Amino acid sequence: MKVTVVGAGAVGASCAEYIAMKNFASEVVLVDIKEGFAEGKAMDLMQTASLNGFDTKITGSTNDYSKTSGTDVAVITSGIPRKPGMTREELIGTNANIVKSVIDQLVEHSPEVIVIVVSNPMDTMTYLVHKATDLPKERIIGMGGALDSARFKYRLAEALDCPISDVDGMVIGAHSDTGMVPLTRLASRNGVPVTAFLSESELEQVEQETRVGGATLTKLLGTSAWYAPGAAVAEMVRAIAQDSKKMFPCSLLLEGEYGLNDICFGVPAIIGKNGVEQIVEIALSEDEKSKFNAAAESVRDVNSSLKF
Ligand code: 2OP
Repeated sequence: MKVTVVGAGAVGASCAEYIAMKNFASEVVLVDIKEGFAEGKAMDLMQTASLNGFDTKITGSTNDYSKTSGTDVAVITSGIPRKPGMTREELIGTNANIVKSVIDQLVEHSPEVIVIVVSNPMDTMTYLVHKATDLPKERIIGMGGALDSARFKYRLAEALDCPISDVDGMVIGAHSDTGMVPLTRLASRNGVPVTAFLSESELEQVEQETRVGGATLTKLLGTSAWYAPGAAVAEMVRAIAQDSKKMFPCSLLLEGEYGLNDICFGVPAIIGKNGVEQIVEIALSEDEKSKFNAAAESVRDVNSSLKF
């Protein structure tokens, strides 16, 4: 499998590193607009190959998309990250232009590509990729829910004082500070509902810490996070490469599912060799439904400022 990662910044480089470390891809091409930057990151990563025991070949390219020809999966991380105090939505003007130019060049060289969108505001950037290309909807996937769910599990394990491997849970809805919908009702510790262990106020705190997971890190780091976003992408790419049919919440074009249309929004999906193999519809409680629908409205507001 050939993977292209556009944007060799912290998130892009972490994606490339985790993909290589998992050793399932034959090739990773890193692309960046900054002269020599992707080549440098690729060379540095390749010099870890004998130490870390991977055979994936990583190369870099300064904006030469001919090097990406025949890409099976492309990850778009390019654009500006948020600074402390900023929302993901504030990045739209700059990032929409960047994502539009990236997707045109990617598809020109790899018409069969499956695209994973990471750039923020992610749900809107995923929608933009739909509008800007003729790619079938199963080949356009926004990465947010896999990351938000990992953060949810981290916070749950912390509150439960247990190993993360004991915990399962999922976050759907928007990849935004207010629009995430952690499915606490369905979260479990080894199959036992977390509601059996934690009080309502403890669970509310877990949910709130999950929603602002990215903002908390942006405040601490001065820029947005990269390890967990990179790891979340790598797991999704692996599910495609290995046709594992693993379930992740992803931002997908909805055409009636969950009562929504003409929006990219976080819902559970089965991921395999064709990209999205199936959207999984689960029955939401009234409370979850109202949070989910309110978040969809806020994503629509952001989408309305896109120009095609
Ligand atoms: C985050 O939540 C980068 O949006 C990403 O960290």
